[in-house]
Amino acid sequence: MFRSPRGTADILPADQPYWRYVETTAAELCERFGYGRIETPIFEDAKLFNRSVGEATDIVEKETYSFKDRGNDDLTLRPEGTAPVCRAYLEHGMHVLPQPVRLYSIHAQMFRYDRPQAGRYRQFHQVNVEAIGSQEAAVDVEIIEMAWRLFAKLGLRNLTVVLNSIGDRSDRPTYIAALKRYYEPLAAQLCGDCKRRLETNPLRLLDCKKETCRPHTEQAPRTLDFLSDSSRGHWNELTASLKTLHIPFTIDHRLVRGLDYYTHTVFEIVPQEDGAQSTIGGGGRYDGLIEQLGGKPTPAVGFATGMERIILNLKRQGIAVPGQRGITAVVVHLGDGARAHALSLASSLREQGVTAVLAPGGKSMKAQMRYAESVGAAYALILGDDEVRQGVVAVKRMADGSQRQVAMSEAAAAVR
Ligand code: HAM
Repeated sequence: MFRSPRGTADILPADQPYWRYVETTAAELCERFGYGRIETPIFEDAKLFNRSVGEATDIVEKETYSFKDRGNDDLTLRPEGTAPVCRAYLEHGMHVLPQPVRLYSIHAQMFRYDRPQAGRYRQFHQVNVEAIGSQEAAVDVEIIEMAWRLFAKLGLRNLTVVLNSIGDRSDRPTYIAALKRYYEPLAAQLCGDCKRRLETNPLRLLDCKKETCRPHTEQAPRTLDFLSDSSRGHWNELTASLKTLHIPFTIDHRLVRGLDYYTHTVFEIVPQEDGAQSTIGGGGRYDGLIEQLGGKPTPAVGFATGMERIILNLKRQGIAVPGQRGITAVVVHLGDGARAHALSLASSLREQGVTAVLAPGGKSMKAQMRYAESVGAAYALILGDDEVRQGVVAVKRMADGSQRQVAMSEAAAAVR
């Protein structure tokens, strides 16, 4: 017996109402904010992610699904959506459009070779939004507001926005130097990963969750204390605007995010309940990325949320979603002559917008009625030789067993 590969999941019909709910809610919201939908391929040139997400990040070091195809090209299944959208922005010359260009994706499959657990998969799906071409703090606010409103619209409660600014590339060297000065005497006490990070990617020391390292992060130098005047201005405007919009946030000086492209604003949205501490969404500003990918300097900001994590939280919080549309009519048929008519009746009902299926053939009336009941049909439409001869159909309402006869041509109206 085959099973789906570790860390992947089938999305079965019973779960589709959740997926549809998240998709339609997110699409409506994104369009209301003036975002246009974009879809990019699920694999890209491997170098795209090495250069953007960063060679020394967990994602690129340990988690990418990379392979050579038969043409000997190095490809990577996308681990995230921002770099591909920036690649598309450049490839299609979107810099000539009014800026910022606002783009969203929904149900975008992502691939990370991560250790699977609740809400963490190797293939997962994101809602991803990017606003490319503006450095205004108002656009950071817009992105955070979208994230906040999306979760609120979905009905999720008890979420917190966690916020920080990591400054820009010119603020970084003095900060990194201070961080290294702080950490070097502690090196012997750090976990293996952090010993390495001290050399390769010191900023990531701050979000190590291991017990050996966590206490040290508290006293570590804070990025907010190393912001230039212009970075501080951006930060002040951002926090003031969030207050204006009544979007609550907490500042966490350890929040740096796991991807290298961020500058200035970084944020995450986390559930407050115990046991659901995994981040539900995150994002931030990435002013250097487009240039790093070969474009002109182009500021940008964005956000992504995992659809599996949203659905996990919807279920945990007992939030009801609109159900799957049920079957309205099962066409029950008796005798060979009736079968062809039943086939046409089911087909014509569907043409008229009624959800209808044919009962399995070669079974007794009783068995077919049982079938209608078991699929939760609202009506059974019964066709025997007599009915066919008279051009009528017996309409049985399953809820109360009441039955009446109508002309075949009236069948759709009778079950509406
Ligand atoms: P990220 O924080 O790596 O950011 O991922 C965003 C969200 O994707 C997470 O908060 C989580 O909900 C979901 N996610 C991540 N990994 C997994 C996994 N293994 N299984 C299930 N869900 C997962 C980014 O991807 C950035 N591209 C976000 C961004 C957009 N920044 C700017 N623009």
